[in-house]
Amino acid sequence: MRYTTAGESHGRALLAIVTAVPAGISVDIALLDADLARRQRGYGRGGRQAIESDRVTVLSGVRFGRTLGSPVALSVSNRDWENWTQVMAVSGDKPLDIRETQPRPGHADLAGIQKTGSDDARDILERASARETAARVAAGGVAKSLLAHFGVSISSYVEAIGSVAAAGLDPETVDTQAALSSDVSCPDEEAAALMRNAIDAARLAGDSLGGVFVVRASGLVPGLGSYAEAARRLDAELAAAVMSIPAIKGVEFGLGFEAAALPGSQVHDPIEYQADGGFRRLSNRAGGLEGGMSNGEMLVVRAAMKPIPTLMQPLATVDIDTHQRADASRERSDVCAVPAAAVVGEAEVALVLANAYAEKFGGDCVSDMVSAVDAYRDRVSS
Ligand SMILES: Cc1cc2nc3c(=O)[nH]c(=O)nc-3n(C[C@H](O)[C@H](O)[C@H](O)COP(=O)(O)O)c2cc1C
Repeated sequence: MRYTTAGESHGRALLAIVTAVPAGISVDIALLDADLARRQRGYGRGGRQAIESDRVTVLSGVRFGRTLGSPVALSVSNRDWENWTQVMAVSGDKPLDIRETQPRPGHADLAGIQKTGSDDARDILERASARETAARVAAGGVAKSLLAHFGVSISSYVEAIGSVAAAGLDPETVDTQAALSSDVSCPDEEAAALMRNAIDAARLAGDSLGGVFVVRASGLVPGLGSYAEAARRLDAELAAAVMSIPAIKGVEFGLGFEAAALPGSQVHDPIEYQADGGFRRLSNRAGGLEGGMSNGEMLVVRAAMKPIPTLMQPLATVDIDTHQRADASRERSDVCAVPAAAVVGEAEVALVLANAYAEKFGGDCVSDMVSAVDAYRDRVSS
């Protein structure tokens, strides 16, 4: 299963096309919409979220609630497009005075202008905007629906916003239901209050914040991915997918960077065997990955998001027409979007895992896949 997206931030709609989709996946549109709503919310979001109320429209590939085995095309409308029909017109001559000429540090504006030869940062920023991630979340919903057939579930929570970190959260036992009802997606209420204060302070100062989120996947079989082929290593695919989310600058699995400072005896997870449950690890410091494969323990992915580049107290830039110093442009913007990025992280992880299941268990038909997964589970647990 692979996906591609199309669409600009203020264009008519965002689209996702998911290919190599097995037939027979039970797709509940309400679940896809619920994830779209989660991506929109969060303390620290900007004015755009008040305009949009994202809903998915299925354009192809699903019939009577089941995938057909053909590409699934999904659309999410941009309500704000109605206010942008002149700026985003498909044809006609562009009025010169609508050009964006003051590229924002930290965003795609300047490198994009240089890359494409455009004289208008809007040509770049409309696509580089993370509004595109709504389409990824919709695509991820199809992947999550496939994974549900195998008993795999995916959740996330926020661990830190700016310098405020929730101490001592164990990814294995953390209450992700509590995270769902928190507007900063943090299950630790005390830390959540401090996170809100930090976001308020950043907003007041015209500044922005990043943070850290964790995505977990439980119920995985061991052996997804490959120890034999570099490009099919599950850790490499997951890292690339999570790093593909705008503003994500670091990805860790399990102990992550912390493991580099510890002796092997405090890093690797001892193995035991139980007659009724088969092989398991006594700890999960590896985050569910060994040798480029899932090992059957919970997958724990941690991602670092940089602060939002658009600042209401803008940094210095240079006008691309005059080459004179200027204030960077102020596009309507979030102050902090870590809770939203966590939802996008779930989608990216789900898409990689769904693809890994399809590669290992055949990607034509869900009931064949379920039989193959069950037989495999029996074999590897004996
Ligand atoms: C969910 C989400 C929401 C975001 N919202 C904004 C925003 O409102 N304003 C902004 O300047 N950047 C926002 N970003 C970050 C930019 O999209 C990102 O920094 C930019 O595309 C440059 O890419 P890079 O940070 O990977 O270098 C957001 C990112 C995510 C994941």
